[in-house]
Amino acid sequence: MEKSIETDPAYYDLGRNDYVDSDFASETTSLSSSVYRGVFENGRRYQTVREGASWCPSDEQQFESLEAGHLLCVLLDANTDNPLFHAPVKSPKQILDIGTGRGTWAIDVSDMFPNATVRGVDLFPPPVNWLPPNCTMEVDDILQEWTWHHPFDLIHMRQLIGAFTPVEWDGLFKQCYKNLSPGGWIEQIEGDPRIHCSDSSMSTDSSMVQFTEAVFRAGQNWNHPLDTLDTMRAAMEKAGFVDIQEKTYRWPVGPWARDPTMKEAGRLHYHQWTAGMEGWGLYLLTKFGVPRPWTKEEVLVLLARVRKELQDPHVHMWQYARRVWGRKPTQEEVEGKVKREAVVKDSEM
Ligand SMILES: C[S@@+](CC[C@H](N)C(=O)[O-])C[C@H]1O[C@@H](n2cnc3c(N)ncnc32)[C@H](O)[C@@H]1O
Repeated sequence: MEKSIETDPAYYDLGRNDYVDSDFASETTSLSSSVYRGVFENGRRYQTVREGASWCPSDEQQFESLEAGHLLCVLLDANTDNPLFHAPVKSPKQILDIGTGRGTWAIDVSDMFPNATVRGVDLFPPPVNWLPPNCTMEVDDILQEWTWHHPFDLIHMRQLIGAFTPVEWDGLFKQCYKNLSPGGWIEQIEGDPRIHCSDSSMSTDSSMVQFTEAVFRAGQNWNHPLDTLDTMRAAMEKAGFVDIQEKTYRWPVGPWARDPTMKEAGRLHYHQWTAGMEGWGLYLLTKFGVPRPWTKEEVLVLLARVRKELQDPHVHMWQYARRVWGRKPTQEEVEGKVKREAVVKDSEM
C-alpha cells in the first residue's frame, strides 16, 4: 500500500483559541515553527520568543496600525532633510532598528542608504515578502546578549513605549552605547498614550480619557511605564550620550485641524488609533488592569464607546510625541574627559 502523506499537527493549531496556554509550555514545539505561528490570546497573535516580553500583538491588525504610525511620523517631518531620522549621520555603514515591527522604517532607510547594511530586529518575524538587498530582518529578544560583530553608526527605536522596565531601559541604552561606533548616533521617537484637548470639546470623564488613563495605570502596575517619551532623554544621558537634541510633535486624532498637513496627520493618527487600540488595551488591561485585571468583555465594551467618540468630528483630541537623538562621544572626547577628571582629582588632594 502506498504510504500516506503525513499530516502536520501544528497546522491544526492555527485556530484562534485552542493553544492559548500550551504553547510556551510545550517541549515538543520547535522554536522556529512556534516563532512564526505565534500564540493566540483573546483573538490576537503574540510573539513566542519570551513569554510576557511584549504587550504588543504581532498580527495584521496591529501591523496596519504600525503602518499608519510610520506614515504619520514621515508626514510630520516631510519638510525636513530626512523624514526618517534627524541624527546627522551622513554615510552610515551599519544601522539597527530595534523592535522593527512591520519593518517599514528599516526598509525605507535601506532604500535611502543603499551602501549601508540595515538590520531590523523584533520578537516576531516582520511580515515581509521582499527586502532590499541591504536589509535583513532578525528575530531576537533585544534584552539578550547582542551577537553582532560590528559597531553600528545609527541605532533607531520607534514606538517602544512600555516595552521594558526602567532597569531594562537603562541596560538597553548601555548596550546601544557599547555597540555604537565612537561618534555614532542613537535616535528614538515615542508617542504619549495620554490624551489632550485644547478646547472644551472632550469631557474629562470621556471614554477616551478613561481608556488612556486605565492603560497608563496598567503600564505602571506592570512596571513597564508608558511615559517613555518623558524618560528616554534622561536615560540616554545616563548611558553617556552627548549632544542630545529633541523635537516635540502634536498628533491630532481625526481630520479636524485646519492646517492641511495636520488634517492629514489627524487622518493617519485616527487610523493608527482605530486599528491599534484593541491591541494597546487587551494585553495590558486583561493582565495588569487596576484595581484588578479586566475581562476581555470589559475592555471591548469600553473600546466600543471610545470608537464612537473617535468618530465624533466635534471632539478635538490630540497627543504628544517626541523624538530624541544623541551621540556617543568620540575616542578623543572620552580620553579628554578622563584627563580632565584626573586633573580635578589631583587638585582636590
Ligand atoms: C509598538 S511596536 C513598534 C514597531 C515599529 N518600531 C514601528 O514603529 O512601527 C513595538 C515592537 O517592539 C517589539 N519588541 C518589544 N520588546 C522587544 C524585545 N525585547 N526585543 C525585540 N523586539 C521587541 C514588539 O514585538 C513590537 O513589534
